[in-house]
Amino acid sequence: MIWHPTPAERSAHASKKWSTSPENVLPLWVADMDCAPPDCVTHTIKHALAHGIFGYGEEPKSFRTAWVQHLKTRHRWLIDPDWIVPIPGVVPGMRFSLMASPQVRHVLTPTPAYPYFKTVPSIENRVEHPIQLDQTGETIETSIGVIEERLRTIKEPTAILWCNPHNPGGTVYSKDFIRGLVKLAANYDALLVSDEIWADLILDDRQHIPCGLVAPNDQPTITLMAATKTFNIAGFACAIAIIPDPDTRQRFLATQTAMPHVTPLAYAVTTSCLTDGWSWHDALLKALKNNRQLVMDWSVCYPEMTVITGHSTFLAWIESYHYTDLFERFLDHGVRLSPGAPFGSDTAVRLNFGCSPATLTEALNRLDSAL
Ligand SMILES: Cc1ncc(COP(=O)(O)O)c(C=O)c1O
Repeated sequence: MIWHPTPAERSAHASKKWSTSPENVLPLWVADMDCAPPDCVTHTIKHALAHGIFGYGEEPKSFRTAWVQHLKTRHRWLIDPDWIVPIPGVVPGMRFSLMASPQVRHVLTPTPAYPYFKTVPSIENRVEHPIQLDQTGETIETSIGVIEERLRTIKEPTAILWCNPHNPGGTVYSKDFIRGLVKLAANYDALLVSDEIWADLILDDRQHIPCGLVAPNDQPTITLMAATKTFNIAGFACAIAIIPDPDTRQRFLATQTAMPHVTPLAYAVTTSCLTDGWSWHDALLKALKNNRQLVMDWSVCYPEMTVITGHSTFLAWIESYHYTDLFERFLDHGVRLSPGAPFGSDTAVRLNFGCSPATLTEALNRLDSAL
């Protein structure tokens, strides 16, 4: 795995992660990694350059084929290619899901969660019902019973907007949990929207269970996936919604009028990664596991903090009731993490360990000084 050797190079290239942070600060916040993507990405771009024409594009057939094949081999999910709706991002996909469901008044979301789990219901004028996740062993989770209790109190149409695997905390939900969630959605007539952007960054011997895999095809379920985290290509806005139920899919498709589309280059790059990027991905998982171990070893010295590295993602969730100023404290010592408040916890921060072991070690040393 080749981690990007010189952070300064990234700052010079208008990177959200690097160029918005002061030069002496190590940015371990927004969720992209300090590494080049698989070689097939550069080959694809070179090929497009050699062609040299950049007009309006069409979705290439190979894109759908690559997703169908990927879901079959890696997630044991056989889908009909027609179920796929290409979209320019998973977050837009969350929003399209609610736009397509004007009858839905209430949205159940896990908390803490990636901030858009709160923003999207709010900008779509729905009532958000946060479901508190608590630490269970190495991850943060909740039970189906807790979700059902909340659903029982809501007497109007509802959606469940879930994050599977979970960011932050890297929870890879069990088959029983996902089955329970799908059944609950069916019993309460709730739309189930599952953000599965982290599905292909599982670091341990666990199987990701797509919600759409266990749901009956006529149940309103929207599974959102992307290759952007998996292959570190977040700059190419490209994702898919998988919607087996024709009625739900038609309503989702109707939201696509006058919306940005996936660009031809994003289609091509995504397709190339899903087809040819897997040996790079094997090396990535090994490197991320090593980095996760560095964070775990570091955390042993701080029993007053809960450090959750979970079974997926490259994000550690650090919670402390002892320190109420973790974000500022770490920033003062030259490390920028993501503050916990937008995720739903004032006392936490999120650390992105998708960087070189040298950068990570230096950052952890600085955290030591801060503590
Ligand atoms: C859970 C989750 N969903 C969605 C996104 C972003 O998705 P996109 O860039 O495709 O909108 C992220 C980015 O970190 C994420 O962690």
